[in-house]
Amino acid sequence: MSNIIVLGAQWGDEGKGKMVDLFSEKFDVVARYQGGHNAGHTVYIGETKYVLKLIPSGILRPGVSAVIGNGVVVDPGALLAEMATLETAGIAVDAQLRISNRAHVIFPFHPLMEKMSEAREGRTAIGTTSRGIGPAYEDKIARRGIRMADLIDPAYFDDMFEALLADKLTIAKAFHIAVDQDWAAVRKLYQTYANRLRPLVCDTAELLSQSMKEGKRILFEGAQGTMLDIDHGTYPFVTSSSASAGGACTGTGVPPTKINGVIGISKAYITRVGGGPFPTEAHGEEGERIRQAGKEFGAVTGRPRRCGWFDVPLLHFTTTVNGFDSLVITKLDVLDMLTEIPVCVGYKVDGKETLEMPATFRGMERIEPVYEVLPGWHCSTKGTPTFDGLPDKAKKYLDYLEQKTAVEVGCVSNGPERTETIIRKGSKLEKLLG
Ligand code: GDP
Ligand code: IMO
Ligand code: MG
Repeated sequence: MSNIIVLGAQWGDEGKGKMVDLFSEKFDVVARYQGGHNAGHTVYIGETKYVLKLIPSGILRPGVSAVIGNGVVVDPGALLAEMATLETAGIAVDAQLRISNRAHVIFPFHPLMEKMSEAREGRTAIGTTSRGIGPAYEDKIARRGIRMADLIDPAYFDDMFEALLADKLTIAKAFHIAVDQDWAAVRKLYQTYANRLRPLVCDTAELLSQSMKEGKRILFEGAQGTMLDIDHGTYPFVTSSSASAGGACTGTGVPPTKINGVIGISKAYITRVGGGPFPTEAHGEEGERIRQAGKEFGAVTGRPRRCGWFDVPLLHFTTTVNGFDSLVITKLDVLDMLTEIPVCVGYKVDGKETLEMPATFRGMERIEPVYEVLPGWHCSTKGTPTFDGLPDKAKKYLDYLEQKTAVEVGCVSNGPERTETIIRKGSKLEKLLG
């Protein structure tokens, strides 16, 4: 009975939502372990498009339990809006969804704090999603945060809210920021959120433990990507949570001994949203062609994603951190129009070749990528159902990525829909899916 982690191997938006939705057919529970409504996971079921932000993508499968783990930060307003959309689509949200009593809560003063740190003079903006994610995690680590268990506790919530609010207003005053908000109304609104969410809040670590005892299988759904991880990413241009595989344990309370496999999702090229170093970024017309072909615009903010070429050293690094058993290469079809495809196979820093990922963004900005150029296949791969049915040059491209990254390519995605996927026969991934 294997439990697996599915997570982003690059800077997010690799197509995790599509793959989690597809794989969740074989699982009983899908659990999110970090992040918040900064994530945007797109799933197409036929013509219908869903964008999941906080709720695990597995909710789209009837009977699959969806768990928001303790490592997630929850904006209850955003959660209820997402729940309402899914309910309208006929999904049994109340039956399928459970939320950790230890997950931290995002309040309207969190995006306010974020605006101060992002827009303050002399500060380098991270280019965040402005959802209050970072400040909510700051409160968690500073041990003053409010958790779901506090939100639903009428005897304590009001005092905790007032104390945390007083902190924030003191900071705003110090920075001469005028705050015009009816905070009593916010507190009341959160009480109504609490009443609606109370039945769904529980000890999800215990729930997951029980599920495993009953022989149920869990899929852990990562948000963001390894290069946005607070520890291993391109700090400070990262998100504030543990997006890499280790986060699945701390973010759900499931021990490492219960995890049987880790699957990395990577595009056939690479993208990034927001600021920060990006060694293989394709500027100008080249980048624009990929952006248009791949519809590379943020699912949450609508921002154009920065686009570039597949980066082998980066994949090596994210494999080191996560121990990928298998890779899913998504959006192969987006490269269909190219006659030549550059792949970064090494880094040069100050003229010297290196395999090491620099720890600082300053170091990363000094990287000169070393490229090899592979021939494009220049025909459609969209929806091709088998690996053998792909054009020879596309197969060679995938074999090349497999050989260079030293991780099997167990699955190829060649279109946004469930059916536009090739799971390779005999792969480790096929075995892990069971
Ligand atoms: P996530 O955050 O990792 O779930 O990815 P996003 O949903 O933010 O972005 C991935 C985008 O690519 C979505 O619009 C998907 O519908 C789309 N997508 C996923 N896989 C494929 C694929 O193989 N080909 C194409 N053309 N689009 C894909
Ligand atoms: P999914 O799960 C891509 C980026 C933001 C910004 C940085 C910090 O859809 O792959 P934050 O609001 O988290 O403090 O912003 O992280 N970012 C993402 N980029 N995909 C995501 O999620 C992202 N979530 C955050 O653009 O650069
Ligand atoms: Mg996304």
